[in-house]
Amino acid sequence: MTETVNISITKIDKSKLDQVDFANIQFGKTYSDHVFIADYDGEKWKDFRIEPYDYLRLSPASPALHYGESVFEGMKAYKGSSGEILIFRPDENFKRLNISGERICMPALPEEVFMEGLKTLVSLDKGWVPDLEGTALYVRPFIFSSDEYIGIRPSDNFTFMIITCPVGAYYSKPVKVKIETHYTRAAPGGTGYAKAAGNYAGSLYPARLAQQQGYDQLIWTDSKEHIYIEESGTMNVMFVIDNVLITPPTGDTILNGITRKSVLRLARDWDMKVEERKIAVQEVVEAIEAGRLQEAFGTGTAATIAHIDTLAHEGKDHKLPPVADRVFSTKVLKTLDGIKTGMIPDKHDWVYQL
Ligand code: COI
Repeated sequence: MTETVNISITKIDKSKLDQVDFANIQFGKTYSDHVFIADYDGEKWKDFRIEPYDYLRLSPASPALHYGESVFEGMKAYKGSSGEILIFRPDENFKRLNISGERICMPALPEEVFMEGLKTLVSLDKGWVPDLEGTALYVRPFIFSSDEYIGIRPSDNFTFMIITCPVGAYYSKPVKVKIETHYTRAAPGGTGYAKAAGNYAGSLYPARLAQQQGYDQLIWTDSKEHIYIEESGTMNVMFVIDNVLITPPTGDTILNGITRKSVLRLARDWDMKVEERKIAVQEVVEAIEAGRLQEAFGTGTAATIAHIDTLAHEGKDHKLPPVADRVFSTKVLKTLDGIKTGMIPDKHDWVYQL
């Protein structure tokens, strides 16, 4: 059923745009002027509105605060060469938001609400879409429980919001990652495949321990034996070994990344051999030691393509080949950037133009 989405717009009195130094933007520190909001009242989504960015009024008894009843998405909008605004694969984010929401008993959000809210908000704040290389407007849609009840049960009332922020690179240099073999991010049957808020809260402590040891991030391994590679804290992971692109298959413990699937599509377009299969830590370590591992990188909306510089396993740091020698990940990053900004033909229809 197609729903009419009438959005009421209340504009900010004075834009904050002139306070932003676009040449020095850090990820997630600066938010654009407006937000999109919709409410669910137990029966339907309603009250579609754009308001100035501000703090929320939320019951302190909201299950979002107590039980993590919250899911989110991340996508990016870019400026094309004629100033047009281009959003990368928003239809995929829409689908995944509802897949995540279903896992924690949220009502499905209609596609029209997601798309109309997104288009209207980003058009209104289009001045916030940066155009310097490596920058974008990060778009964060999310749904959370707005019930006032601290018993455990699926909620009745929810809020959907979209906030946006101009961003630069999430990682400013190649990352040092530690392969985690004690703590677990996700177990079979759990919520690992969902972009559920609690998944990220649970990852903070092990990640902090790794950061105290000098690493930027973790690579998670399977919860049962800690033998197989799963994903990294903010991204999926891929390896090039003997010219084959290898990445763990998605399932209920691994996020179905949109950058991940875009990279695999491009690799297949280029006739590269791709394997989506379980990959043991031992296999990666042996490939490094034998000089057969050519590339390792993370893929994600925020991270884009993040080269991995060092892989640590059981107390030993393995230094990976220099970034200058990494043919595939360099080409895929350049190609994705070109498609996202309209400089390279978009033959898969990934880019949505406002
Ligand atoms: C993204 O890449 O959009 C993410 O959601 C990762 C992170 C910033 C939580």
